[in-house]
Amino acid sequence: MIMKKISEAIKKRPIIGWAIFVTVMVIVFLLGLLAASITERRAEIATLYSNKKVEIKGINPHSSEWGINYPREYNTWLKTKNMDFQSKYNGNIKQDVLENRPQMVVLWAGYAFSKDYTAPRGHNYAIEDIHHTLRTGAPQTDTDGPQPATCWTCKSPDVPRVMNEIGIEKFYNKKWGALGKEIVNPIGCADCHDPKTMALTITRPALIEAFARQGKDIKQATPQEMRTLACAQCHVEYYFTKEGNYLTFPWDKGMSVEAIEEYYDNKKFTDWTHALSKAPMLKAQHPDYELFSVGPHAKRGLSCADCHMPYVSEGGIKYSNHQVMSPLNNISSTCQTCHRDSEEKLRNYVYEYQDKAKEIRDRLEKELAKAHIMAKIAWDKGASEKEMAGVLKLLRQAQWRWDYVVASHGSTFHAPVEAQRILAHSLDKTMQAQLQVQKVLFNHGVKDVTLPDITTKAKAQKYIGLDMAKENSNKENWIKNTLPKWLEDAKKTGKLSK
Ligand code: HEC
Ligand code: HEC
Ligand code: HEC
Ligand code: HEC
Repeated sequence: MIMKKISEAIKKRPIIGWAIFVTVMVIVFLLGLLAASITERRAEIATLYSNKKVEIKGINPHSSEWGINYPREYNTWLKTKNMDFQSKYNGNIKQDVLENRPQMVVLWAGYAFSKDYTAPRGHNYAIEDIHHTLRTGAPQTDTDGPQPATCWTCKSPDVPRVMNEIGIEKFYNKKWGALGKEIVNPIGCADCHDPKTMALTITRPALIEAFARQGKDIKQATPQEMRTLACAQCHVEYYFTKEGNYLTFPWDKGMSVEAIEEYYDNKKFTDWTHALSKAPMLKAQHPDYELFSVGPHAKRGLSCADCHMPYVSEGGIKYSNHQVMSPLNNISSTCQTCHRDSEEKLRNYVYEYQDKAKEIRDRLEKELAKAHIMAKIAWDKGASEKEMAGVLKLLRQAQWRWDYVVASHGSTFHAPVEAQRILAHSLDKTMQAQLQVQKVLFNHGVKDVTLPDITTKAKAQKYIGLDMAKENSNKENWIKNTLPKWLEDAKKTGKLSK
């Protein structure tokens, strides 16, 4: 019926026939284009994996070579070099933390952190920053201190390469300076990926061993868990064993701040003896993974990569943004993939948690520094070991808790309630320490203590007895004379990426 009407119409006016013909041709052409573009996209995704332009073999620390196959991931990874973002408390810019909070110099008296401590920045700076910090000193020979090679472990894909070559124990047993010509490329593809399948992989033995001691096989982790465990290779609490400096994660009794403290107490482990109070101290590293795990987002099954490596869509290709940094630089592709709130609101949720924790933290740092100084004065007045034992234990416990929260730079957002809980206990133990040491001071005839002026980094460093002029000039000479030799050698042997 309809066909008859159409053919009659065409007979009357042939132009209608032509119009139908042209329309059909255009539609066919457009459908063809769409089909072509879909196959092209499919092919492009397939190319990513099967038609690799270069074959990556073994543990290859040269991220630029992986970049030939995966330019999107490589180009975003390169951006961890950027220094252009500052949120209220964090960012990718180098910041002198001791200058901003000079009490920390007193808290770490007798430990290398009192000399130099800067806020973290992008993964691309891992090697440059460990070269330049005063904490690694100025080793002239392969056997010079102060640090063991274990300090390299979270800085470079050359670490799994060298461990594979010389063995894990031998690696940790060396001095830091002995591997200066070997460990030269910053955190890169080979730290997290298997070159054959590009699957995430664990390259750091300490994480595999910690799981094994708890009877867990890390190879059984789900893909979503791997998006967190790749980061937990480095963003965790750890210590070096007294014999052999073997890198170990202290999780055998659990991952809470108390369980880890119990682990250290049982081993009678101390990182150092405080130079003022003589307390047997623990240095918390950066328990980002441990604290994140008890926070609201981990409980809903999120992984680190969900916020720090968000997906990007580009011409039909979905890939992970490898510019690992503060998610606040990119709220639309991080928080807003799940939350409907405005960017401003989401940013303020983070700031609110951080501001509230900072209220306690600032008070705590002041009181804890004061407690160490009061203990020093008590020793100076002739206090006995027996009188001071309780004070020293409280100082160890208080500072462990403070450091645990502060050294995990995202903690007050990752796990706001747990961070506040730990800070509260720290403040409580600090005030108990002050009360106890006050009694000791009374017994030795001291009614009032006059606190030293520690209002700047320089004043605080002078007070704890550091000779910063000497420290700085040793380092400057080392940077001028030794470091270029390391890099020159690594270039000659082809170990340093171009
Ligand atoms: C700190 C660990 C880490 C480093 C370093 C790293 N990646 Fe990734 N990469 C990841 C994570 C996490 C994913 C997401 C995996 C998933 O979702 O299963 C990923 C995904 C990928 C994928 C799969 C497609 C995609 O984008 O999601 C490719 C390809 C890739 N990375 C290439 C690279 C290259 C090339 C480098 C070096 C320039 C590199 N990666 C460095 C952690 C890392
Ligand atoms: C091989 C060890 C290692 C791995 C694996 C690793 N990191 Fe890091 N990360 C570091 C080091 C070291 C720094 C500090 C670099 C510096 O300041 O020089 C850092 C810095 C950071 C920063 C601060 C960046 C800035 O702009 O301030 C963030 C955020 C971060 N890492 C998140 C992650 C996430 C998320 C993962 C997993 C996808 C991860 N890291 C995997 C070692 C590692
Ligand atoms: C729900 C989102 C989210 C998840 C998931 C998440 N983070 Fe964060 N992270 C943040 C936010 C927000 C900040 C604070 C950024 C700021 O203040 O600029 C932060 C801060 C950090 C910092 C400090 C950054 C700096 O510039 O100093 C590190 C390191 C970090 N996170 C690592 C991790 C690791 C490791 C994991 C997984 C164990 C993880 N994050 C999971 C949102 C997240
Ligand atoms: C992959 C999804 C996802 C991403 C990305 C994400 N969130 Fe969430 N967020 C959740 C879920 C799920 C909850 C739990 C919601 C609930 O139980 O009502 C949550 C809870 C929260 C809460 C309430 C926490 C509490 O104490 O219960 C805040 C605040 C929040 N998110 C902020 C952020 C911010 C800021 C970012 C970006 C840095 C972010 N989220 C990224 C999924 C996400």
